[in-house]
Amino acid sequence: MTTPGAVIVDAASYAQAVEDATKASAAYYAGGNSVLDDDAYDRLLRGIAAWEAGHPDQVLPESPTGKVAGGAVEGDVPHTVAMLSLDNVFSPEEFTAWTASLARRIGRDVARFSVEPKLDGLAIAARYTRGRLTRLITRGDGTAGEDVSHAIGTIEGLPAELAEPVTVEARGEVLMTALQFEYANTVRTTHGGAPFANPRGASAGTLRARERAYTVPMTFFGYGLLPVADTGTQLADRLGELAHSDLMTLAGELGVNTTATTAVPGITTDNVEQALARVREIAALRAELPFGIDGIVIKADLAADQQTAGSGSRAPRWAIAYKLPAVEKITRLLEVEWNVGRTGIIAPRGVLEPVEIDGATITYATLHNPGDITRRDLRLGDHVMVHRAGDVIPRVEAPVAHLRTGDEQPIAFPEMCPRCGAGIDTSEQRWRCVNGRNCHLVAALSYAAGRDQLDIEGLGHTRVVQLVDAGLVKDLADLFTLTRDQLLNLERMGATSTDNLLTAIGAAKEQPLSRVLCALGVRGTGRSMSRRIARHFATMDNIRAADADAMRQVDGIGTEKAPSIVAELAELAPLIGKLAAAGVNMTEPGVTPPAPRVDGADGSTESAEAAGGPLAGMTVVVTGAMTGVLEKLSRNQMNELIERAGGRSSSSVSKKTSLVVAGEGAGSKRAKAETLGIRLATPDEFAALVAEHVD
Ligand code: IVH
Repeated sequence: MTTPGAVIVDAASYAQAVEDATKASAAYYAGGNSVLDDDAYDRLLRGIAAWEAGHPDQVLPESPTGKVAGGAVEGDVPHTVAMLSLDNVFSPEEFTAWTASLARRIGRDVARFSVEPKLDGLAIAARYTRGRLTRLITRGDGTAGEDVSHAIGTIEGLPAELAEPVTVEARGEVLMTALQFEYANTVRTTHGGAPFANPRGASAGTLRARERAYTVPMTFFGYGLLPVADTGTQLADRLGELAHSDLMTLAGELGVNTTATTAVPGITTDNVEQALARVREIAALRAELPFGIDGIVIKADLAADQQTAGSGSRAPRWAIAYKLPAVEKITRLLEVEWNVGRTGIIAPRGVLEPVEIDGATITYATLHNPGDITRRDLRLGDHVMVHRAGDVIPRVEAPVAHLRTGDEQPIAFPEMCPRCGAGIDTSEQRWRCVNGRNCHLVAALSYAAGRDQLDIEGLGHTRVVQLVDAGLVKDLADLFTLTRDQLLNLERMGATSTDNLLTAIGAAKEQPLSRVLCALGVRGTGRSMSRRIARHFATMDNIRAADADAMRQVDGIGTEKAPSIVAELAELAPLIGKLAAAGVNMTEPGVTPPAPRVDGADGSTESAEAAGGPLAGMTVVVTGAMTGVLEKLSRNQMNELIERAGGRSSSSVSKKTSLVVAGEGAGSKRAKAETLGIRLATPDEFAALVAEHVD
C-alpha cells in the first residue's frame, strides 16, 4: 500500500509544510519530541515532493527533500564521508520499479542484494583508532555531527576494543531494546524526570545527555564499516572492495554487533523476488522483535555495483528503505475504563480519540496497571503515543508531555471493584477483585466452554448469562450437575437444545487434563502452558502435589511463575475437587504418571513426558490451511497432536525448528523454512507421520 502524500495546493501551504517538516525533523533528531508521528511526517514529505515536482522553480532552499534528513542539529565534528539518508519505497511495485531503475543505471541486473532490517534508532559513527573506541559522533546534518563520546561504555555492541588493532569507523544505529527502554523510564521517573514517549526518543535523549547521575544502557547495530584518514591504504583498499555482506561479517569478527545476532539477520539474495520474500519475513517477525524497526533496507551487495550506481546528495542510489506501516501514532487519551477480566483482574483500558494504525482504527489501548499509569504520569486529555504491532493488543506508550496545555486531568483509580463493589487486592502490580474469578463468572465460564478449552457447543455467552442470572451455576463445576428440568425451565430452551447441551456437557467431562486445566484459567497458563504442565505431571493429583520446585521442572516455567501457579492451584482446590466429584476427567491420555521424583545430580528430574513418539525431540511449526484428514483441526488441535506424538509445537520458525507443516496459502514461515533449509511436509505427509496419534 502506498501512503498517500499530504495534498498541497499553493505556494503558501507549501511554505508552511516545509516549515512544519523542518521543525518536526529537528525535534526528531534532537530528542524525539516531535509533534508529528513518523507516518504524518512521511506523508508531509511526500506532499512536499509532489508539489516540488510540479513547481521546480519554486523549491525552497530549506526544503527537507533536498537534504540529508536530520539536518537541523548541527555538529562540529566533520564526517569523513557524508552520512547519507535513504530514499523510501512503500510497496512491492515501488520496490520492483526501483530495482529496474537501478539496473538501468548500472547497465546490468544487480548481481546480489543484501536485505536487512531498518533499525529504528539514531545513526551514529563510532571511530576506532588502532582498535580502541575513541569517538562517537551523531549524524548531525550529514556532513558534521555532534561529539557524544561521553556515551562510550554505555552502548552494548560497541566494544571499547576491537579484536584487531585497526583504525576504522563503524556506522550504525543506536537504539534501546524493550527492556532497556523500560529500565530507562524507570530510572528516569525515579529521578523525577518525565518518561520518554518511545524507545527512539529515549535513545536520543540519553545519547545527548551529559553528566547524569545514572547510566542507561543502549544497543548498537552496525550497518557500515569504512576507512578513516589514518586507516592505512592496504586496509582502506580492502574495505572499499568488500561486498556489504562481507563488511558485516568482518564487523562481527571485530566484535561490533550487527543484525546477525538477531532473529532477523541480514541476508543476501540473488533476485528481486527473493528480496521481497525476505521483506515479508522480516515484516512478519516485526511484532516479536525486542527492538523497533521501521522498514527493511535493501542494498546492492557488491562494491562494484555500489560504485557504478553512485550517490546523490541526500541518499545513495544503490540502497533503498522499504518502509513498513508506522506502528506508533499520537492521539489523545479521552478516558480510562476499568474492566474486570475472567480471573478477577481489574485492568485499566484507555479510550482514545480514534486513530488509524496500520490499517485498523484504534479506539482502545491497554494501560497495563495502576502503577504504570502513575510512573508514566498519564493524565486524561494527554496526547499519548499509541503502539500497535501485528495482532498484539494496542498499548499506550507514554504521554507526549510537551504537548500539554494544562487542562489535563488526573486519572482516578477505583476504590472498589467496578463490577461487584467488593474490595480490591492492590498488593500486586495488577489489581484484583477480592472475589477473584467469581467476580466475573460469565467471563470465566465462557472462556472455559470455549473451543480450545472444554469445547461445549451451545454454551455461548448468552446462554452462560442466562444460567448465571437464573442462579443455576455459581462456579464451573455446577455446569456438570445441571439437570434436564432446570434447563427446560429456561427461556428459549426447547427439548432439542436442552438435550444437545447436556450431551455436549457430558462429552466435556472426557476432555484431556490439559484442557480442563486450561479451562480453570490459572493465571499465567494459557493453552500451550497447560498442555506442558499436563504432559509433565500426567494427573491432576500430581499437579496439585507439586511444590514450586517441582513446578519449575516444566519447560518454560521459571522461578517467578512457579510459586504463583502453585498458589493459584491451591486457591482453586475446592473447585477442582468439585469437578472431580462431578466426574470430570483429571488425567492426560497417553502419558504415564511419573515415577516418584528422583533428582539427578544435575538437578534434572524424571518427568512424565512421552519420551517416544514419531516426533520425539522435534520442534514443529504449522502454517497455512490444513487439508485431508487434518482439515478440521484448529491450530490448537494441531499443536495438541504434535505434542501427543512426542514433539514440541511452536509458532515461529527458527534454526531450532525441525519440521514445518506447510498447508495451502503458507507464506512467510514456509519461505523462512526454505531459507534455513528446514524440512517441510505437506498436511498429508504429516498426517501419515503421526497417523497413530490422529483421533
Ligand atoms: S544504510 C549510505 N542500513 O535509516 C547508506 N541505514 O532513513 C546509509 N538505518 O540514515 C544507511 N537501519 O540511520 C542503513 N540497516 C540499515 C539501517 C539504516 C537503519 C537508518 C540510518 C539511515 C536512515 C535512513
